[in-house]
Amino acid sequence: MKIGIDKIGFYAPHLYLDMTKLAETRNVDPDKFTIGIGQEKMAVPPMTQDAVTLAANAALKILDEADKQAIDFVIFGTETGVDSSKSAAVYVHELLGLNPYARAIEVKQACYGATAGIQMAKGHIAMNPESKVLVLGSDIARYGLSTPGEATQGAGAAALLISADPHIMALEDESVYFTADVMDFWRPVYSDEAFADGKLSNEQYIAFFSEIWSRYKEKSGLDLKDFEAITFHLPYTKMGKKALKPVLEEADANIQERLKTNYQVSTGYNRIIGNVYTGSLYLSLLSLLEQQNDLEAGSRIGMFSYGSGAVGEFFTGILQDGFREHLQVKQHHDMFTSRKEVTVPEYEAIFEEKLPTDGSTIKLDINNDPAAICLGGISDDKRQYVNKLQ
Ligand code: CAA
Repeated sequence: MKIGIDKIGFYAPHLYLDMTKLAETRNVDPDKFTIGIGQEKMAVPPMTQDAVTLAANAALKILDEADKQAIDFVIFGTETGVDSSKSAAVYVHELLGLNPYARAIEVKQACYGATAGIQMAKGHIAMNPESKVLVLGSDIARYGLSTPGEATQGAGAAALLISADPHIMALEDESVYFTADVMDFWRPVYSDEAFADGKLSNEQYIAFFSEIWSRYKEKSGLDLKDFEAITFHLPYTKMGKKALKPVLEEADANIQERLKTNYQVSTGYNRIIGNVYTGSLYLSLLSLLEQQNDLEAGSRIGMFSYGSGAVGEFFTGILQDGFREHLQVKQHHDMFTSRKEVTVPEYEAIFEEKLPTDGSTIKLDINNDPAAICLGGISDDKRQYVNKLQ
């Protein structure tokens, strides 16, 4: 039985910052951000968006009523969840009006959470072929103003519907995963900003890919020529390129060219959104699927997932006949192009805004946020979510 991605969607907040303007304000050569790091724009989340609303908005765009009834498992990958106890999946389940006979959980391992969710979903569907699983990867990447990580922030969510006989991509069974205790990036519970050892994180990402790729080749008997494209978790768009470069030497010039071209296409959406942590690999996959018109059904796509701390996994999928008809190219294009630019002072002001942590009540103005699903405020220590469509 084929199991894989039946639908895939993405949601980003409606505000963005131009990286050239950020560089100028920080007295940095803009080429460092746009070429050295490879980011053009960065999504800026208003107070009315959090990991829950971003994910719910992403899923809202792809699910129809039949999906909502068939989904019996919601798996929410996030490292910027809103509650230490209740899972973000339960909020999304309610906001979308899903079938109540469902499981709803949150998964955490840095940017790897959604990938763990996809693998869990695959096992669940193997046992329950009629069911569908909603896997979400949703985060707000925050490092702090004027920090080295600032240029690699962002916000957004990927939503994937995993099912039997998928319309977009069938996942293959061979995959390689690897864990090692590394302090390359972490966020203590008392901090709403991540800490990173930037150099170590880059090195570990590359080392994990190299290790996992070598083992994958041994286990599968496949090599670079068997891949149309390899997509990566992209904390910034230069990162995957750094990991892919040494490995490319294994292939002849034509294959190198194909993989380099497709890598470039796969970074297009990430370049204008920034890091979205758990959703980042899937934003890159979406960029490839929606922007590379030469892709053909039957092609194998590789996916490298990396969650600092650290867990990595390389897994693969085969594009299905007619996959293009199940993509939402126009909707994503419209969402990206209708965003509103904020100035650096506006971005800084939004960044400094904080929800109360002392139990007081706050009501947020959701009229300026075009999203269907917003955070309306907090009262009695409970987040108040609003679905404007209900
Ligand atoms: N023109 C062109 N390029 C320039 C330039 C200029 N004027 N000035 C600098 N550059 C280049 C540098 O040569 C460098 O390129 P290489 O990496 O290819 O050598 C690049 O720009 C970045 O420069 P620095 O290394 O000096 O940048 P930095 O130290 O200030 O910060 C960073 C970079 C370490 C990635 C930092 O943004 C950071 O800490 N980010 C958060 C951590 C992170 O994203 N780590 C990635 C792996 S971990 C992961 O994947 C999980 C996750 O999501 C966080």
